[in-house]
Amino acid sequence: MKRDILPLSTPKAKIDDESKLAFGTEFTDRMFVMEFDRKKGWHSARIQPYGPFSLDPAATVLHYSQEIFEGLKAFRRSDGSIALFRPQDNISRFNRSATRMCMPEVDEKFFLDSLLELIRLESDWVPKSEGTSLYIRPTMIATEAFLGVRPADQYLCYIILSPVGAYYKGGIAPVKIWISDHYVRAAHGGTGEAKTGGNYAASLMAAKEAAENGYDQVLWLDAREKKYVEEVGSMNMIFLYDDKIVTSPLKGTVLDGITRRSVLHLLKDMGYKIEERALSVDEVMEGAGNGRLKEAFGTGTAVVISPVGSFCYKDKCVQLGNGEPGELTMKLYKELTDIQYGRQTDKHDWVVEL
Ligand code: COI
Repeated sequence: MKRDILPLSTPKAKIDDESKLAFGTEFTDRMFVMEFDRKKGWHSARIQPYGPFSLDPAATVLHYSQEIFEGLKAFRRSDGSIALFRPQDNISRFNRSATRMCMPEVDEKFFLDSLLELIRLESDWVPKSEGTSLYIRPTMIATEAFLGVRPADQYLCYIILSPVGAYYKGGIAPVKIWISDHYVRAAHGGTGEAKTGGNYAASLMAAKEAAENGYDQVLWLDAREKKYVEEVGSMNMIFLYDDKIVTSPLKGTVLDGITRRSVLHLLKDMGYKIEERALSVDEVMEGAGNGRLKEAFGTGTAVVISPVGSFCYKDKCVQLGNGEPGELTMKLYKELTDIQYGRQTDKHDWVVEL
């Protein structure tokens, strides 16, 4: 399929003070777009000026949430070059989400080439300061105007770019985690492992409850027994428990995080024993109290690695250690970001240079 590049008339002003970069509030000048029709397949691929779409009010996505997305990052290295972290993994997860949501898959090579071409054109937007990056958001929506419930026959797929700073306002400061004993995120057989907007919309009520109680994020329990910890909405959770690494297994209700996968790989390289097993909320709360739970952190593209400072469950709140980021958490943060920013050799072949 060919890809057109449409002219850009007025580039936007870029933020000069990169310390003011927030998460996902600024967007670059251009975006990639392609369209799908059951008869024609994918067509009309182009890089065009960033701007609003026109959608029929009956478009399926607006009624039944047939939507998927991804999140990955491009990093500016000290020599000025730009590198992406494991983009093929994000694109193949995009296709797995598409299959789950009855949406058409994309051609992985064409999609990666389009992504790289877009970033080349927008390379001036990749920020330079420590901790900043260009966040990449591939998205697919069902656009067919039809109110019956069935997979749509028309789709729009696009990629937008956003120069970002830290996801949480406090940067790498420890987050306070609220464990929900009422709301659940994903049930077996549901869409928990797909990156689809509805999972995030469904999480908002519990996030509101957490915020009203002074907590930053919600840790979800399994839907069947409300006993085992699963994930936090924007990150997977990893625990250092009795000198072993414990994390929820991927059994359909937890997102197969690319940062999770990378961090587990680094931990294996460091010689840690990894247990992908159900970890009960009682083990977490008691472990934080009696010192068996030494560290806990979230992993995700947007957050990178986010240390946990405390947990609150029902009427009990516990601080983890002294409430400061753990030693292993910080070591992993350094190791991972050193690979992403090119300060360390990429021996796992995770980095794709532009
Ligand atoms: C990411 O980490 O890229 C995500 O997609 C999480 C997001 C909802 C901010």
